[in-house]
Amino acid sequence: MAFPDGFLWGSATAAHQVEGNNIASDFWAMEHSGVPMFAEPSGDACDHYRLYRQDIALLRELGFTSYRFSIEWARVEPEDGVFSRAAIAHYRDVLEACHEHGITPMVTLHHFTSPRWLMRLGGWEYDGTPDRFADYCRTVMAELGPLIPYACTINEANISSLTRRMIEDMTAARSADTPDGGEQAPVGVSAESVESADKARDWRTPGAAALGTTPDNLNLFLFTWTDHGVDVIRRAHVAAREAIKEVSPATKTGITLALQDYQPGPGGEKAADERWAEAFDHFLPAMDGDDFVGVQNYSRVVVGPEHALPHPEGAELTQMGYEFYPQALENVVRRAASAGLPIHVTENGIATDDDTRRVEFVRRALEGVERCLSDGIDVRGYYYWSTFDNFEWMLGYRPTFGMIAVDRATQERTVKESARLLGRIAERNSLDDDIG
Ligand code: BGC
Repeated sequence: MAFPDGFLWGSATAAHQVEGNNIASDFWAMEHSGVPMFAEPSGDACDHYRLYRQDIALLRELGFTSYRFSIEWARVEPEDGVFSRAAIAHYRDVLEACHEHGITPMVTLHHFTSPRWLMRLGGWEYDGTPDRFADYCRTVMAELGPLIPYACTINEANISSLTRRMIEDMTAARSADTPDGGEQAPVGVSAESVESADKARDWRTPGAAALGTTPDNLNLFLFTWTDHGVDVIRRAHVAAREAIKEVSPATKTGITLALQDYQPGPGGEKAADERWAEAFDHFLPAMDGDDFVGVQNYSRVVVGPEHALPHPEGAELTQMGYEFYPQALENVVRRAASAGLPIHVTENGIATDDDTRRVEFVRRALEGVERCLSDGIDVRGYYYWSTFDNFEWMLGYRPTFGMIAVDRATQERTVKESARLLGRIAERNSLDDDIG
């Protein structure tokens, strides 16, 4: 079957993970604070800040029709109220390069990194943050709005609820007795994440010192620890949408949410529903007035009466320790349709060094999207995470999510078969001939 006309096919990146030298951001400061939970600093990353023109040309050559990337708040507003004309000119050129190559830009305005100065004010717990964020969005969109057909305000605005659950699951797993007397990491949490959480225990004090703030004001990513923080994030989305609509009414605007496929294990029906409600339903009021919702999915989580259950025996695991489970995407798209908004799959992907598994993952995930479309669900785009092997936050460059490998010494790009597969699908606007 053919996908709907105009379906957007592409891959996604985030500024801090690919551009390099994002020095005015909170994350850069943390990477250089001596806190051991950061495997390595981001450095030049994929040098995409310099190489974007050749990268965008490559995406077009592959057959992709869209590109999701983020504009970096810390570059555009390196100090509170001080806007950089040069940074805006840079992003204008990135957008122009997309249009010249027939690539539709899907722009994210906040993808986990914030300007350092925001942390000094109280970060995502501070009541003034929604207005600050809206001012930045208004400035960018007043300048660049005509070049931006789609804007995601905040990437994974729900990430702090997920993180809090993950920490609870890890704690439960560490105290649980397993048959062999060892410790068993729960679903979605690798032994490495447990180790990195151990290292992280004392990160807030030196991290706060590096950012010139207090531990309570430090919320890297969007990791707020209180319901008030979650509310600040929701208000920031609403304020940003209003600012965007004010200066660039034609730009379709939405939020993106990290949505795991919560499946009930024995006795886990209520707990699985609660997790979905936290991740999705609690954001519905803030989404009232949006033009679409961005769905981001990597795997499933099987939930017991209280906590995530261990991976099924013999499950294939990805480099992130997630279960290889591409069918999760179909399940979350079906559930997310309850918002009554068009859906863009703004992230779906796998970290593996075996690209044949990536090919299989993408094929199976897209078969699920096709079934959703056949049932009348309004899906408008699919973005694989990620375009490049890039900086995977605390884990550094070890996990490889990319469809394009990057030699970080030479910055040479090597296209993987999975990128060619997605390009062929995009060119035909159909899975036929590729899905056997
Ligand atoms: C984020 C990306 C991240 C990816 C893989 C998503 O949650 O938006 O920034 O690299 O997952 O872990």
